[in-house]
Amino acid sequence: MPIVIGAKRESNFTDPIGMLWDCHRRIERFLGVLVHVAEQAHGEALSEEQRGALDTALHYFRDAAPKHTADEEESLFPRLRRNGSADVRALLARMESLEEEHVCAERSHGEVDSLGQLWLRDGRLPPEQSLRLLTVLTQLRDLYRHHIATEDNEVFPAAAAALSDFERLAIGSEMASRRGIPASA
Ligand SMILES: [Fe+2]
Ligand SMILES: [Fe+2]
Repeated sequence: MPIVIGAKRESNFTDPIGMLWDCHRRIERFLGVLVHVAEQAHGEALSEEQRGALDTALHYFRDAAPKHTADEEESLFPRLRRNGSADVRALLARMESLEEEHVCAERSHGEVDSLGQLWLRDGRLPPEQSLRLLTVLTQLRDLYRHHIATEDNEVFPAAAAALSDFERLAIGSEMASRRGIPASA
């Protein structure tokens, strides 16, 4: 089965909530790639396709995914915390849990990255480390399933309803500058 790692971007910086939602689809896709490679190859020698897919997915979680976390923690959540809407106030405790989950996910991604880099460097991963990689990836998949569902189904709809156009544009502009590109891109 081919390992699909690309997809077209559907939203732009004028629709930051849509962009965050799109990022979730990329997180799911790249995590699926990591799980697929780990389950397929079990620490053994990688095919060229598996090697490229592993490298690309590790790079995504090292480079792009932390920007998504910053989009939420530095741009979205602070504005929601300042918002007076009852729907948003009801989510304050949820946002704290989401931030704690970001810390757990970051720790797990660090371990996945170390193991994945080792695999790419040495060509094989010893059985104990291969098993550990699968265990951490399974934990990450479970964490994201719950985490992304909470953000997609509760936080983002409340944000879309509560944020002003000015706040939305400000979030989009911050997200763009985090990526070093003009907000109109
Ligand atoms: Fe999040
Ligand atoms: Fe998220």
